Amino acid sequence: MCAGGRRRRLSRALPAPGASASSSSGSSSSGSPSSGLALLRCCCLVLGICQSYALEINLTDSKNATCLYSKWQMTFTVNYETTGNETKNVTVTVPENVTYDGSSCGDNQTVPQIAVQFGLGYSWNLNFTKEENNSYSIDTIVFTYNTSDNQTFPEAKEKGQILSIVEIRKARIPLNKIFRCHSEESFVGDNATHHYWETMVQAFIQNGTISKEEFICGKDRASTTAAPVTTQVVPTTTATPIPQEKPYPGKYAVKNGNDTCLLATMGLQLNVTQNKVNSVININPNVTEVTGSCNNETAELRLSGSNVKYIDFIFAVKNGNRFYLKEVNVSLTFVNASDLNVANNNLSYWDAPLGSSYMCNREQTLAVAETLQINTFDLRVQPFSVVAGKYSTAEECFADSDLNFLIPIAVGVALGFLIILVFISYIIGRRKSRTGYQSV
Ligand SMILES: *[C@@H]1O[C@H](CO)[C@@H](O)[C@H](O)[C@H]1NC(C)=O
Ligand SMILES: *[C@@H]1O[C@H](CO)[C@@H](O)[C@H](O)[C@H]1NC(C)=O
Ligand SMILES: *[C@@H]1O[C@H](CO)[C@@H](O)[C@H](O)[C@H]1NC(C)=O
Ligand SMILES: *[C@@H]1O[C@H](CO)[C@@H](O)[C@H](O)[C@H]1NC(C)=O
Ligand SMILES: *[C@@H]1O[C@H](CO)[C@@H](O)[C@H](O)[C@H]1NC(C)=O
Ligand SMILES: *[C@@H]1O[C@H](CO)[C@@H](O)[C@H](O)[C@H]1NC(C)=O
Ligand SMILES: *[C@@H]1O[C@H](CO)[C@@H](O)[C@H](O)[C@H]1NC(C)=O
Ligand SMILES: *[C@@H]1O[C@H](CO)[C@@H](O)[C@H](O)[C@H]1NC(C)=O
Repeated sequence: MCAGGRRRRLSRALPAPGASASSSSGSSSSGSPSSGLALLRCCCLVLGICQSYALEINLTDSKNATCLYSKWQMTFTVNYETTGNETKNVTVTVPENVTYDGSSCGDNQTVPQIAVQFGLGYSWNLNFTKEENNSYSIDTIVFTYNTSDNQTFPEAKEKGQILSIVEIRKARIPLNKIFRCHSEESFVGDNATHHYWETMVQAFIQNGTISKEEFICGKDRASTTAAPVTTQVVPTTTATPIPQEKPYPGKYAVKNGNDTCLLATMGLQLNVTQNKVNSVININPNVTEVTGSCNNETAELRLSGSNVKYIDFIFAVKNGNRFYLKEVNVSLTFVNASDLNVANNNLSYWDAPLGSSYMCNREQTLAVAETLQINTFDLRVQPFSVVAGKYSTAEECFADSDLNFLIPIAVGVALGFLIILVFISYIIGRRKSRTGYQSV
């Protein structure tokens, strides 16, 4: 379900706008919904269209205190029959503009619920229920789609609103904890399969504060403990279920008044080693807060997120003409409530002339402490002399440029050897022929 001018215009060229993926003839449908979904995701990445937007709701009660919070992404794979007796398979995505009418935190008569409306006659409802032992659960999800929408359901045999209901009530979420599931969870409902990912939800919020304690779904736990990691050192986060993946690069900026004074773009991965146990944490820039400060001789970038209390990068000027990364301070909290605090103010990384930026696309490792290394990817930083919010020319790291200048050197050396070899064999040849004449 793609709405919005830009995508609608683009989608004209496509056979089934806003929806798509696979269709098959006859009643036997080939291609599983999940492979269709994967295909859709892939096409959408390439074409930049039809992406599903994240949803977010933050409800407050009569005293203006937060009482229900959720953020999530979803799509639906729907099967329907066409007038030509074919079974078609479309994926319904959520457009940018949705309304949340009817959502409420509930009171002692009604349960909390989230209600979302989008497109032409699509809606989605979810309600919660309180369980025993100070826990709550997601009760029922009802997705309503509209086969009268000819753009999404071309040639549908039956036209009208159709419900797809999923009863969940499986995870008991402790009260005062936020449920979190980065992985995709799929539920087969009537007529449609629901897919949910990047989910965070807390109902029955007490005291108006969203909990910092996370209740992590089984799938995320499985992927974080698949590596030989004891629960003792697994961080509270699930921001990164697959830590082996390259971290997604974040774009960070620090302002001084109205002007940007520090720029940094990088994918960040923390490598914590404690008691010989190793855990790798990717920083998700989408849930990372940026603060910092800029002065003439020093500049600071502070990143903080749900799992990471803070990561500070402190830059300094040396000899009045170059900058470098001088100090890194990191503070993390683990599930067992233990902390890791690491500081090193004697570093010398990312060295470049003032007035330029430092760039390194290859993976770089910052050795901060015995217990902590930071791996950076697709790095570009400029902590000083930022003009008009843009990076100045870049000084590239050795790792990026080494091949570029090592290859000519290697070729040059090889050519030199060849010339010397030819010269030596020429001289030997001449000597031989001369001695040959003499002997005759
Ligand atoms: C579709 O199937 C119905 C009943 O099975 C049949 O009456 C109808 O003729 C079929 N239509 C087409 C276009 O094949
Ligand atoms: C339930 O609601 C009624 C009125 O709607 C109110 O008088 C009562 O105090 C409420 N009970 C609790 C336990 O909040
Ligand atoms: C949640 O919604 C479903 C469907 O609308 C309904 O059947 C169910 O009774 C609701 N649950 C509660 C606890 O109200
Ligand atoms: C509630 O907690 C008690 C004691 O911890 C346990 O015996 C009981 O099975 C729990 N009930 C449910 C429904 O989980
Ligand atoms: C809410 O506030 C009350 C009183 O200030 C406190 O006793 C209680 O522990 C708090 N609950 C949570 C979940 O923070
Ligand atoms: C910052 O921007 C605002 C709005 O654009 C403007 O009113 C204000 O004067 C600016 N302040 C400075 C220090 O440039
Ligand atoms: C993490 O650090 C350990 C110990 O220094 C090292 O063996 C491992 O290769 C590192 N892993 C990553 C992904 O950087
Ligand atoms: C962050 O958001 C961007 C754009 O919304 C998305 O493409 C990306 O996958 C997200 N990254 C993570 C790690 O969630």
